[in-house]
Amino acid sequence: NWTTVNVVDEQVALIREQVGSKRAICGLSGGVDSAVAAALVQRAIGSQLTCVYVDHGLMRKGETEQVEKDFVAATGIQLKVVDAEERFLTALAGVSDPEEKRKIIGREFIRVFEQAQAEIVAEAGEHGEEVEFLVQGTLYPDVVESGGGTGTANIKSHHNVGGLPEDLQFKLIEPLRKLFKDEVRMVGQELGLPEEIVQRQPFPGPGLGIRIVGEVTKERLDLLREADAIAREELTLAGLDREIWQCPVVLLADVRSVGVQGDGRTYGHPIVLRPVSSEDAMTADWSRLPYEALAKISTRITNEVKDVNRVVLDVTSKPPGTIEWE
Ligand code: XMP
Repeated sequence: NWTTVNVVDEQVALIREQVGSKRAICGLSGGVDSAVAAALVQRAIGSQLTCVYVDHGLMRKGETEQVEKDFVAATGIQLKVVDAEERFLTALAGVSDPEEKRKIIGREFIRVFEQAQAEIVAEAGEHGEEVEFLVQGTLYPDVVESGGGTGTANIKSHHNVGGLPEDLQFKLIEPLRKLFKDEVRMVGQELGLPEEIVQRQPFPGPGLGIRIVGEVTKERLDLLREADAIAREELTLAGLDREIWQCPVVLLADVRSVGVQGDGRTYGHPIVLRPVSSEDAMTADWSRLPYEALAKISTRITNEVKDVNRVVLDVTSKPPGTIEWE
């Protein structure tokens, strides 16, 4: 019989037994899943856990600072922040294929964790136990949609499931592997995480890297970050955060259309708004947002973001569309 208390107790016991006196690291992404996984493992093994936040340069505006401040304040967890922007952008250069992007991002994450592992052991000095385990906030839908479930099609390689390299040297701890998002939120609450973390909208590990249709470059990321920040700000101001499950903002970098702005003709890129409502992300419906909020977002993005001359709304359910565009 399922209660959050049971889940927590059961996982804490399992993790203690599995890890023993060894050390574990946990990749924090700023999202709900990794935050709850980290808090759960911290409850089990305390300071044998170090969290690693990889700033891959694919984060949204203000996100890194938020993790550095809020998460540490809420949990007192040991956090290591790795600036890996150059590494990821170099690895992604010239790549447009969505699955290839996902695999590269998954692989680079692991490479950064391996490096962090070595540093953590070195910092701990002679009493440093080996880091053997990697904690991931993988959920049940991630497993299913990456083809890890029974008899399900491989839809996309989630960065922490199908996107892992084959020569992985860590043993994985995935305490949320059987749970859905709403259950994860309840477990987070049970563990005492603050509302701002537990109620955050989902954001994918590969970040904005899978929200640029086309090659991922720094310039395009900066542009998308601006558009995304405007959309998020306006949705919050309009009081719509709880109503929508998440709202990916996508840059169609390989598409151009003609516009007229200021003194004349422009030939810019479209931004797609993809607000959805959902229970568990396995299926979703497009959110019927108020026109005023959409109008405000559209006006601001086309006025404030360079090279964007069109904002379009995605009115596709899942299925047939997935929530993210890639
Ligand atoms: P899709 O696009 O498959 O997304 O309908 C379902 C949910 O999963 C999120 N998503 C990911 N989350 N790593 C993650 O942590 C990933 O690689 C990944 N891909 C998609 C997506 O934002 C949505 O909430």
